[in-house]
Amino acid sequence: MSASYVASIDQGTTSTRCLLFDHAGRMVSVAQHEHHQHYPRPGWAEHDAAEIWANTLRVLPEALALAGLQPSDVAAVGIANQRETTVVWDRATGRPVAPAITWQDTRTADLVAELGRSAAAPLFEEVCGLTPAGYFAAPRLRWLLDHVPGLQRRARLGEVAFGTMESWLIWNLTGGPDGGVHVTDVTNASRTMLMDIHTLQWDQRLLDALDVPAAMLPEIRPNAQVYGTCTVGLPGVVIGGAFGDQQAALFGQTCFDEGEAKCTYGTGAFLLMNTGASVRPSTHGLLSTVAYALEGERPVYATEGSIAVAGALVQWFRDSLEMISSAPEIETLARRVEDNGGCYIVPAFAGLFAPRWQADARGVVVGLTSYVTRGHLARAVLEATAWQTCEVVEAVDLDTSLTLSRLRVDGGMTANHLLMQTVADVLDVPVERPLVAESVSLGAAYAAGLAVGFWPDLDVLRGTWRRAALWEPSMSPVVRRRERAAWDRAVQRTLHWVV
Ligand code: G3P
Repeated sequence: MSASYVASIDQGTTSTRCLLFDHAGRMVSVAQHEHHQHYPRPGWAEHDAAEIWANTLRVLPEALALAGLQPSDVAAVGIANQRETTVVWDRATGRPVAPAITWQDTRTADLVAELGRSAAAPLFEEVCGLTPAGYFAAPRLRWLLDHVPGLQRRARLGEVAFGTMESWLIWNLTGGPDGGVHVTDVTNASRTMLMDIHTLQWDQRLLDALDVPAAMLPEIRPNAQVYGTCTVGLPGVVIGGAFGDQQAALFGQTCFDEGEAKCTYGTGAFLLMNTGASVRPSTHGLLSTVAYALEGERPVYATEGSIAVAGALVQWFRDSLEMISSAPEIETLARRVEDNGGCYIVPAFAGLFAPRWQADARGVVVGLTSYVTRGHLARAVLEATAWQTCEVVEAVDLDTSLTLSRLRVDGGMTANHLLMQTVADVLDVPVERPLVAESVSLGAAYAAGLAVGFWPDLDVLRGTWRRAALWEPSMSPVVRRRERAAWDRAVQRTLHWVV
């Protein structure tokens, strides 16, 4: 094979990136552009899908140029994306009909509460594995159908298309209005609330419950499969797969066996544990989701603990409170003090996600005394991410018989050693980071590479995983218990704030 690289597009919450990987799974190039975050009203969070597409068209040639490569050097491209962010576009013009509503947006709270009280609520849990929540794509789609004039009618006629970001990018990359392929993958589809998690097909009963016309939906495909060929961006290169970013990270971390888990620390933090061939309904606030499905093979499932705010809290500390001027500075600031000085921050900015799912919670800073300094606040920011991870791991322990013996981590925040040490301390298990910490992009590249035979099988992929850092727990049980109890008291103060 002459093409010696695989490309990966990581369309995330804050930026769009293109990474190139060689046969050994080493990253050889990365290009990145941030897009604007639009907050037109409190609780609303939007993206411009056209801007994201334009950024995609910029990062592809830039990543190639940085490595001195041509499209013909690329065997396939894979896509990983922020999940649940909802786009509807006009099939004829290729233009989005409204701003994309992101996964952090809370505008559908009332609609979801109504759905939760309706007769259809148990059906959702049973069929798609999800308790109705504003986090998922379908309520946002319903909102668009209700608020964009004429959209319901146009959707029924098939004039407009729905997709999450991977669908939008694949359609554009493969020709857009001139024959673009309208597909999604099983992992992204599993976050809509519209797919039967067992059959991996859209479920008509769920579509009916939300009055979503089937004519606007993409076709659901396995994660590693040739979906089409790029006509722009990487002309002539095949698209070999797509993944929701968190499932991509699980795949990139080669967690192919039941019980293996990873946590990705980005805007939010997402812990996924492979649960093998079985869907394990949660009674402790976790989500059942598809981990991956390879062509012709049985799907593999995962249980997920989704934490809405992790890196976003550091961003808030930097941009809104102006306590630091760059994200890495938080570690230096936090290391100036020994502990949190009695201060706790619970970042329930958009309510609380897993394991509590409290839409009416709002954030708190508690334990303030005149002793507390910026350093203590910085500690409390980092500890908030660690304790939220701990709550999710406790839920995994209660829900499954699978006890976490170590945790693989990835994402930008893993560069913060103090945070990773704190995660190991509060979980009381070793935490390890791979050499290629870009697990999201690597997972999408692996899928695309498998689809075209660039990599032969999962065993070969597993062989590429190398540990780069290890954090061993070192907190005394007495301190852990005391801090855990204090965190709980702080969380209690966030609940039912919105009246
Ligand atoms: O479910 C939302 C998640 O996919 C967003 O991930 O890394 O873009 O914040 P990220």
